[in-house]
Amino acid sequence: MERNATRIEWIGNSCRLLKATAAEFEKTRPFEGLTIGTGIHLEPKTVALLMTLRAGGARLVCTGNLNSTQPSTVEFLRSQGITVFATQTTDPAEHHKSLEAVVAEKPDLLLDNGGDLFAIAAERPYANLRGGTEETTSGRTRLLPLREKLNMPILVINDSPIKQFAENRHAVGQSMFESYMRFTNRSTNGKRVTVFGYGACGKGTAACFRNAFSNVSVVDIDPVTALEAHLDGFSTPLRDDAVRSADLLVTVTGFADIVTVADLALIKDGAILMNGGHFPLEISVAAFRQHADVVRIDSYEADGIETFHLRDGRSFHVLGGGHMANLAGPRPLGNSVESMDLGFTLQARCLDRVAGRGVGPEACIVPVPGDIDAIVASAYLDLAR
Ligand SMILES: NC(=O)c1ccc[n+]([C@@H]2O[C@H](COP(=O)([O-])OP(=O)(O)OC[C@H]3O[C@@H](n4cnc5c(N)ncnc54)[C@H](O)[C@@H]3O)[C@@H](O)[C@H]2O)c1
Repeated sequence: MERNATRIEWIGNSCRLLKATAAEFEKTRPFEGLTIGTGIHLEPKTVALLMTLRAGGARLVCTGNLNSTQPSTVEFLRSQGITVFATQTTDPAEHHKSLEAVVAEKPDLLLDNGGDLFAIAAERPYANLRGGTEETTSGRTRLLPLREKLNMPILVINDSPIKQFAENRHAVGQSMFESYMRFTNRSTNGKRVTVFGYGACGKGTAACFRNAFSNVSVVDIDPVTALEAHLDGFSTPLRDDAVRSADLLVTVTGFADIVTVADLALIKDGAILMNGGHFPLEISVAAFRQHADVVRIDSYEADGIETFHLRDGRSFHVLGGGHMANLAGPRPLGNSVESMDLGFTLQARCLDRVAGRGVGPEACIVPVPGDIDAIVASAYLDLAR
């Protein structure tokens, strides 16, 4: 008998670790009577995490991140009786309203991605907040100065070695490569690719383009990291030379203003610019749109590509408006299911630990406890054998 099955089902069935965790949580019910507020990309893999938390007894109030909310995911979650405030938007003010709405529900635990929810809770604290998790490097950087105000356990998933190598290195590399192909349908062979940032995400990105027969350069402001890139066999030209020569420029630093209007004079005719960092500020797209040297912009709306034509006849292209390319443009798939299954299982186990008060305020903005890393790694290897 043939049956129409959905993408959400495909992803849910592919998240084997989360499925096993949900089965366990159905028995142990670690979140019974608790509300979890989430601010993380609303796409099918997140559904698998949210359903796992719900299997553990949680009431969920959810929003997404800027530009990555998938309406079909929202529709599905609502059909399951989960409260979702998110709309698909690139407007920070509208997005902020949905974050405020989540915190207004006074969740007992927060699952944050970029520090949005905890930043609000630091300003307007409430008694029942036990703590929670933060997914990203960017969130950690943002929340560290708020540590004294927060004074509650916040486990940073990004600082788990598993997240670092499974998602940031291997999966971001693959999905940035896949996104370049998906947006442009252009080849990678023989292309000069410059990767800005040689952290975990940059390492994977540089490696994937090299494996796809591109000529890859790396720019990193930290000389020690740049040396590592050099010893890994990448060229490490001076920054401006790397911009000048690139057919494809990829930013994955986590910092703003990596490629700016000052580079308009340098960018090669026909170059493609894309960002993989969390915030859409690494490439100054808004400033490009306003710049006097930009005489025309062609927007290939359905493909998420903008072409900027410059006064001197050169042109260059920006993918996904400078938002994280692997979650933008046509049919954005994000990172591989396996990498997210690992990262989200760390999330579920860390929230379980905070819910059960297994960690105290001394664990404010600290890495995932080592025993949780070991449990998750062993479970994945058992399934792979
Ligand atoms: N697209 C995704 O799916 C995805 C997944 C995980 C993380 N991220 C995001 O990617 C970004 C990078 O994450 P990471 O884990 O690799 O971070 P990281 O801190 O390990 O590495 C960032 C690197 O960028 C370098 N850098 C900083 N400023 C620079 C500049 N001006 N020029 C050149 N290099 C510079 C730093 O020296 C560092 O080596 C973050 O914003 C993170 O949130 C995205």
